[in-house]
Amino acid sequence: MEKRLLKTLTQKDLNDKSVWLMRQAGRYLPEYRKVRSNFSDFIEFCMNSEAAAEVTIQPLKRFDLDAAIIFSDILVIPHALGIKVEFQKDHGPILDKVQSISDLNAKLKEPNRRVYENVGRSIALTKAEIKKVKPNTALIGFAGSPFTVASYMIEGKTSKDFRNVLRLAYEDTKFFNQLIDKVTDATIDYLMVQIENGAEVVKLFDSWSGVLNTPLFNKLTIKPTNKIVEAIKAKYPDLPVIGFARGAGVKQKLYAKKTKIDCVAIDQYTPLSWVLKNVPAKATQGNLDNMMLAYSSPKDIKKSVNKLLDATKDKAHIVNLGHGVIPETPVDNVKALVDAVREYKG
Ligand code: CP3
Repeated sequence: MEKRLLKTLTQKDLNDKSVWLMRQAGRYLPEYRKVRSNFSDFIEFCMNSEAAAEVTIQPLKRFDLDAAIIFSDILVIPHALGIKVEFQKDHGPILDKVQSISDLNAKLKEPNRRVYENVGRSIALTKAEIKKVKPNTALIGFAGSPFTVASYMIEGKTSKDFRNVLRLAYEDTKFFNQLIDKVTDATIDYLMVQIENGAEVVKLFDSWSGVLNTPLFNKLTIKPTNKIVEAIKAKYPDLPVIGFARGAGVKQKLYAKKTKIDCVAIDQYTPLSWVLKNVPAKATQGNLDNMMLAYSSPKDIKKSVNKLLDATKDKAHIVNLGHGVIPETPVDNVKALVDAVREYKG
């Protein structure tokens, strides 16, 4: 029997809804925190295939989910390119900054394929385990979109106002293009390794594309995303690609049309009715508010899910959040969301 998530993505079944959540493996789960406490270095944790496979499976044991997303991080790409990446407690990621062509030449190395292979191995181990414990669950691979990854490399951390990133996008286009090209090529190779090892779907996270105006969005989000989609489709024409251009608003119409991505994952800011009417993708995903999930009651969560399911009747829509599960989220709230999808009667 074909997996439910794949049936949604290929429009084979519009009403047997699939559900998974961004950051479903994360700090809101006590069993995740336990494994996490064995590693002082977050990248080392991502590179440990056994630990990564273990935490990827954790949410499947608690909730009736249709997909697992491999445990890793978008900053694995800068790490593979030789950039120092550290995660400091309560400060998020800290990277060695790359802000000029001379930085590119001095700091960026040939991609370390061992990094890709570690994640590939996490995927192979997870896939084997899924086959044993939850055979109908699809396994999703992922990477950051080149613009979002480049913005971390330029700023050296989560940017507040993207001033340096946008300054360099105008001031030093040669540098910016080279950085985007290097990240794009590495991302293609990295996703290929994930697919070869068993990822059935891949997702691109463009968490910061919302800071780009339309011409820059075309150049820095759409163009590299399309290059990645074309490279994947050339080798794996039937492999579904999900794209998440967070904060892109009405530009998601252009994004779907020009990147040729199969499924557009939507944030919680864009009205779902607008997306369903205007975004030309085979499928959509998301839109439930992650803050609603963290801070409202199981009863109200069920209401939100029912509303989403009413609105997406006869549409290929994957139930998910508009951004990741936050650490403060009660486990019972996540259970209420997933159960509400299963209990929905239409
Ligand atoms: O369950 C899953 O979603 C799979 C794993 C996953 C992680 N990061 C694990 C993680 C995925 C898909 C990501 C993507 C990611 N990483 C994005 C894109 C999605 C988004 O949230 O917008 C971004 C921007 C990053 C970069 C990143 N990683 C930041 C800014 C941080 C620190 C802030 C935070 O949320 O803690 C991380 C760390 C990180 N990545 C954690 C997890 C579970 C928490 C770190 C920890 O356990 O100590």
